[in-house]
Amino acid sequence: MTVLGIETSCDETCAALIDGTQVKSNVVASQVEMHQRWGGIVPEAAARAHVESILPVISEAIGSIRPEAIAVTNRPGLVGALSVGVSAAKALALSWDVPLVGVHHLEGHILSVLADSEPPYPHVCLLVSGGHTELVWVEDPCRYRLLGQTIDDAAGEAFDKGARLLGLGYPGGKAIQDLALKGDPSRYSLPRALAKDPYNFSFSGLKTAVLRLVEREGGNIDRADAAASLQAAIVDALASKAIHALEASAAKALTLVGGVAANRALRERLRDECRKTGAAFFSPPVALCTDNAAMIGIAGSLRLARGESDSIELECQANSPLP
Ligand code: KG4
Ligand code: ZN
Repeated sequence: MTVLGIETSCDETCAALIDGTQVKSNVVASQVEMHQRWGGIVPEAAARAHVESILPVISEAIGSIRPEAIAVTNRPGLVGALSVGVSAAKALALSWDVPLVGVHHLEGHILSVLADSEPPYPHVCLLVSGGHTELVWVEDPCRYRLLGQTIDDAAGEAFDKGARLLGLGYPGGKAIQDLALKGDPSRYSLPRALAKDPYNFSFSGLKTAVLRLVEREGGNIDRADAAASLQAAIVDALASKAIHALEASAAKALTLVGGVAANRALRERLRDECRKTGAAFFSPPVALCTDNAAMIGIAGSLRLARGESDSIELECQANSPLP
């Protein structure tokens, strides 16, 4: 079944064409340049930019093909942004007379690994994005249990706020990764928070520590060393808890998904650690780590295959627990 996936929960306008779990096309119109001017996402501006991009992005994704179903992110996210994708999905579902299914954004990230791999079940998933940092027990596709999460900032926010303090702009994850290549990760000592809590994360102390470091060092700070030290602290915190969850659960595989999964140091660290513990490791291609509609199409395909769909009354929700 060919499914059109649509994603507008945050700052990328995305559409993709999916056949089962196979990605036929994947189009992303980024608003990053616009939000860079304000140093972060402005919800009103994001929604307006989605309105401008949604139809061209959808037509580029489908070409001359008429999809047999539509999957759209309807939760969680900025409601003004979500409703642009959901309205487009409803209009197309009505005019093409095809089924519509609402997808939870985080389920999309969790299932993004299926684009090019088949992890065994159950497995542990480390989901790290700009808004979420969660350890999830994946019983099978569509059945999840939250093992732990951040009690304050998300891992992506730790990268983004650290980058801003170091004057690297927004979004900061990729900028920190690039600068860290030239830096010494042991130069500045930064905290690894919540050492005693095996499943939950905390990154606000790290943010404060970077602020203090910048204030203390002033113009003498070596930004490459600071970027490398910050990245090492985030990777350490994420890897130690993910591996603990893997070992404590006796799961045979770990998946790494979400925007921060694009981070090369994190991918390499988890791949190495999994090899040591004898577990398999999976992470989607970098293009499917950051927000995209291919993952929404994949999740929607699986839900439709289970006989699920939504009515035209489908609503958007700002907050929503994992399904
Ligand atoms: O999943 P995503 O695209 O959007 C949300 O659902 O939040 O994640 C965006 C986050 C941003 O915080 C960005 O800085 C981070 O992913 N990110 C990275 C890298 N690429 C994107 N963080 C670290 N290293 C990267 N290479
Ligand atoms: Zn996301």
